[in-house]
Amino acid sequence: MNRRDFLSRIFGFLIFLISGKLIWDFISFSLKKRQKLSIPMAQVSTKPSVIDGVIVWRENDTYWVYSSHCTHLGCILKYDREAGIFKCPCHGSEFTINGTVIHGPARKNLKRLDYIVKNGKIEVNL
Ligand code: FES
Repeated sequence: MNRRDFLSRIFGFLIFLISGKLIWDFISFSLKKRQKLSIPMAQVSTKPSVIDGVIVWRENDTYWVYSSHCTHLGCILKYDREAGIFKCPCHGSEFTINGTVIHGPARKNLKRLDYIVKNGKIEVNL
């Protein structure tokens, strides 16, 4: 085997490994069950609160469910009841109770999460 054949086989083997890894990641991502969080409806009030990593509150029959992770670098937001907004303790981003960013450095609004109401609980898709 000459040098060219050897390098060609090494290159082919590397392509094989990289392709296998990409295919494996795709398959495992596709098969992975989405995590769910179950929150008893009795815990959800008309005031926003952070429960197990999600912001949740209700307005009449509508529930508002958002990720409580800041869209800047992922810190958990805290609710400022006096101001009625969510503040990030890490770098100071602020969000309305509807998830709209009103002060940076975050640029994106909070992620609204899908949910269903079932058996007296709110099941949130994380
Ligand atoms: S992580 Fe929230 S402002 Fe940086």
